Amino acid sequence: MIQAKDGRTLKFHIFRYNPQLEGDEPKMVTYEVKEAPGMTVFIALNEIREQQDRSLQYDFVCRAGICGSCGMIINGKPDLACRTLTSKFKNGEITLLPLPGFDLIGDLSVNTGTFNRAMSERVGTWIHDEQAAEKSLDELEERMDPDLADEIYELDRCIECGCCIAACATKRMRDDFLGAMGFMKVARFHMDSRDKRSDAAWYEIIGNDEGVFGCMTLLGCEDNCPKDLPHQTKIAFLRRKMVGVKV
Ligand code: SF4
Ligand code: SF4
Ligand code: FES
Repeated sequence: MIQAKDGRTLKFHIFRYNPQLEGDEPKMVTYEVKEAPGMTVFIALNEIREQQDRSLQYDFVCRAGICGSCGMIINGKPDLACRTLTSKFKNGEITLLPLPGFDLIGDLSVNTGTFNRAMSERVGTWIHDEQAAEKSLDELEERMDPDLADEIYELDRCIECGCCIAACATKRMRDDFLGAMGFMKVARFHMDSRDKRSDAAWYEIIGNDEGVFGCMTLLGCEDNCPKDLPHQTKIAFLRRKMVGVKV
């Protein structure tokens, strides 16, 4: 292993609990790791698992901030372990906890899949167009304004990591609150010209306290989204739209 110039030793205080293990109790365990240049929290976790404790549970797939698997609470802030450099923690102490708001699998691993699936079904995260079945496959695709395509792409960058859900006080108090990830999906399909859902149809999904009217606008989502999605603007936009719907 290449040592960092100052060769400092990092201290990782990690939440450990395996709910599958009878008699196991939640606890914090400290591990020491020699810091290397460019080290991320993810790399350090790998070292701990390979060299100190093979039972440590955490998730990753891409190691590049794309799959959204490695979200965890890093020194009090939801973030991606694979995109967080250890060098940013000047005192070398790093506390890791699992993301709240999701079922715990074990240690730092949570089940975001069940939540994401339920959110997708609730929002209907696919293009809704009742005429689509009548269209011939030989027809050319509908044209889309490039600026609109760019705006949709901006929201499609959501990696479903769950950091915005973990950072949301409303979600913590109210389990049926849709949450910021859901609002980003709604905003994405609402602006898509191929999706024919009316504002009244969207109102059925988010025009209540479990939707945009329950959001307290404290913007934990905006502050903690590793992809810098425009939560504040889009939540305000959706709220304005829903206020305007005649019911
Ligand atoms: S909106 Fe941001 S924080 Fe929330 S799931 Fe998507 S990428 Fe993660
Ligand atoms: S602004 Fe709304 S969605 Fe975002 S964290 Fe606050 S309550 Fe949750
Ligand atoms: S491992 Fe994929 S986002 Fe971190």
